[in-house]
Amino acid sequence: MTPFRYRDNLLFADDVPVDAIAYAVGTPCYVYSRTALEENYMAIKNGFGDRNASVFYSVKANSNLAVIALMAKLGSGFDIVSGGELLRVLRAGGNPNKTIFSGVGKSEDEIRFALQSGIFSLNLESEAELDRICTIARELEITAPVSVRVNPDIDAKTHPHISTGMREAKFGVPLDQAKKLYARAQSAECLRIVGIAMHIGSQITAISPIIDALEILLDFTDELKDAGIVIDHLDLGGGLGVRYRAENVPTVQQYCDAITEALERRNCKINLSVEPGRSIAAPAGILLCRIELIKHTDEKNFAVVDGAMNDLIRPVLYNAWMDIIPSVRNDHLPESVYDVVGPICESGDYLGKDRKLKIDTGASNLLAVCGAGAYGAVMSSNYNSRPKPPEVMVFGDHFKIIRERESIDDLIALESIPQDLIQF
Ligand code: LLP
Repeated sequence: MTPFRYRDNLLFADDVPVDAIAYAVGTPCYVYSRTALEENYMAIKNGFGDRNASVFYSVKANSNLAVIALMAKLGSGFDIVSGGELLRVLRAGGNPNKTIFSGVGKSEDEIRFALQSGIFSLNLESEAELDRICTIARELEITAPVSVRVNPDIDAKTHPHISTGMREAKFGVPLDQAKKLYARAQSAECLRIVGIAMHIGSQITAISPIIDALEILLDFTDELKDAGIVIDHLDLGGGLGVRYRAENVPTVQQYCDAITEALERRNCKINLSVEPGRSIAAPAGILLCRIELIKHTDEKNFAVVDGAMNDLIRPVLYNAWMDIIPSVRNDHLPESVYDVVGPICESGDYLGKDRKLKIDTGASNLLAVCGAGAYGAVMSSNYNSRPKPPEVMVFGDHFKIIRERESIDDLIALESIPQDLIQF
């Protein structure tokens, strides 16, 4: 259930009116509900029942230290894709031995850092990477734990930018090559095989592609077994979609049940892990913006807000529809259709188009963009020299800033003017 609900006519985050948060920290700002993060994590953790799958929260969805620390306290492991994310996990008290490192282009430094930290698994995405890991493992005199991320050539039927499981994608290793990698890994002293991995895409709204891919991986592990390579850990990746609008998305329980049933059909006892990001974080967050002004033209009404595409890029990048609701239900106001836009100098700078809203620029002029807890703050930028917004975590009736608003000085802090280069 969403933690962002109206009581009477006021929008609350848990037990705090969002207007109070905006008053305290200004706008735009991200607001996350600790309760929702916890509930969403527990739903998937408990969803596999006795099978007891391991959850590796996908840090890329929301990598705020407080969010990672909460996940660590709940017992979660982590799915990471960079040395930066590993550092965050370590700083937040996460366990590197419960951390999986994926990605097609891990640098030598990142591999070294991961091995020295005691990573649970480096998920291999190519033969070249296997060579690179071996060299570093030998140099460090460490046995590197590896899994092969297989590309099962399955269409996840999601947005092309976030579809990763088809043959032409840069991700994963095709099955025929994967077999060779396992044979090499099995015989290499510098490597230890942890398991097999997949991730076919994100915001997946149908279970069947996930199950089809799972079946392909299970068939493949049978083949490996015949070749004397035993795989006892299967990492299914993330990808479960959330309902941003009216998508018919499977519930977490339906997702877990479908996976459990597929394994039971084959009487398969393999250890299972999942890497959810969006399904934990997205519904737990909003981006709160203030309406600066309303602009009417012959064609359109624009609600110009102080949040923009630099704060939340999903609407323009993926043509993503995210719900936009006012912080006060003003039923007495007339309803009009608005494009909700930011102040950035690009036509793509919108948070929502053609939204029916009852709004004005009076005292209650806040809008909340819903489902913004995942791939929101993490994808923000400083375009147009806009400081990134603060992040706030709410728990019950109190809230704390978990990332300060950047200042203009923060933006220029790393820049310098080399006088000798710009002199005439
Ligand atoms: N594991 C791996 C290896 C991944 O690449 C991803 C996401 C996940 C797990 C987590 O997937 P999730 O449960 O969040 O769907 N920026 C895009 C989403 C990119 C997802 C990339 N990989 C968006 O805003 O929709």
